[in-house]
Amino acid sequence: MQIGVAHETDIQAVVDLNNRFAPQGLTLQRSPDFAYAHLHDYRVVRNADGGIVGCVALDEYSPSVVELISLAVSPDAQGLGHGKLLIAAAEQLARTRGYTELFAVSYSDDLFLACGFDHSALSRFPEKIARYQALDQSEILVGEKHCFAKVLR
Ligand SMILES: CC(C)(COP(=O)(O)OP(=O)(O)OC[C@H]1O[C@@H](n2cnc3c(N)ncnc32)[C@H](O)[C@@H]1OP(=O)(O)O)[C@@H](O)C(=O)NCCC(=O)NCCS
Repeated sequence: MQIGVAHETDIQAVVDLNNRFAPQGLTLQRSPDFAYAHLHDYRVVRNADGGIVGCVALDEYSPSVVELISLAVSPDAQGLGHGKLLIAAAEQLARTRGYTELFAVSYSDDLFLACGFDHSALSRFPEKIARYQALDQSEILVGEKHCFAKVLR
């Protein structure tokens, strides 16, 4: 398994992987257009055949704050450390780009705490609430309970 950047030819696979968890509310639905526009913000894990088995991306809110989004590992490749690897890769990318805070909204509490994130609150990130004005109140409440952040300095 290898971690690396995503290419244009990966867009459909990345979107499919992310979206398979959207009905459960574990990821937000993403379109190929979104993935195309954010292609340089993705990191992916590939199997020996080059197929995508994991993905993660960054979504910028300001020059200092960025969200970790679209974290997903194919069910048959879960529990092998790819999730941790992808979070570390997203963090490294965020540090390289000079962001000072990385946050995520996730039900995977133990995973994010194990990766050095602290519990936070969505209300600390009004940019996210504003960007997702279409979110209904229940999704905002989920974010308040399952928001994690890491200061990168
Ligand atoms: C969350 C997710 C990305 C984790 O990916 P992963 O590759 O399974 O994660 P890892 O193998 O790095 O496991 C990290 C920890 O999670 C736990 N874990 C994850 N999947 C597990 C599984 N199938 N069985 C048992 N433990 C599991 C492990 O306890 C592990 O802790 P450890 O290092 O102490 O053993 C993956 O389960 C997934 O895609 N879930 C659906 C989408 C989702 O919820 N995304 C998060 C949105 S922010």
